[in-house]
Amino acid sequence: MKVLLSESDLKNIVSRLAAAIAADCGGRRLLLVGLLKGCQPFLGDLCRALSSYNLPLTLDYLSAGSYVGTQSSGRVTIGDQLSAYNWPDYEVIIVDDIFDTGLTLSEVVAHLRRQGAVAVRTCVLLRKAGSTRVEFKPDYCGADIGNHFVVGYGLDFNERYRELPDIRVLSEEHYQGSK
Ligand code: XMP
Repeated sequence: MKVLLSESDLKNIVSRLAAAIAADCGGRRLLLVGLLKGCQPFLGDLCRALSSYNLPLTLDYLSAGSYVGTQSSGRVTIGDQLSAYNWPDYEVIIVDDIFDTGLTLSEVVAHLRRQGAVAVRTCVLLRKAGSTRVEFKPDYCGADIGNHFVVGYGLDFNERYRELPDIRVLSEEHYQGSK
């Protein structure tokens, strides 16, 4: 599989995102909500990079997904595992691995607003060209990529390849023969 973003590319991207988030935070309490499962290890590295800015940081997770194999099903399912927060106290940043049609993030933003979140922003590692179906744009984006199905650094194909340390393009032979 072809490497699209190396470990050192990812390190630079994460440092840049952390600096941008820290610059905008203005000392308010940040609640990072990672979307499972793909946000790992991006969220871990982002938190480590943010730690050097000494921000009041809280971490939580929510499961959300719409993909079956390499296709968006168009229907987003959202879990209910978030703790109860006094939402107005927090500047919420939803963290996801990749923005494709945009349905997942836009549904999760709407979901958190319904729970009472007031300040909600979004941060994605990657944004895919060409398939956006919503008006909405992520506030922070690590890198724009072509319309490839990618794996590694938390991204999977049918639960495989999340462990890869870099981002690779899944070739067709993989999705035809992968177990
Ligand atoms: P939407 O279309 O809702 O998609 O913006 C976001 C979610 O879809 C998954 N996704 C991918 N997963 N490689 C992956 O491993 C990809 O190229 C890819 N494109 C979309 C992912 O779960 C993301 O949260």
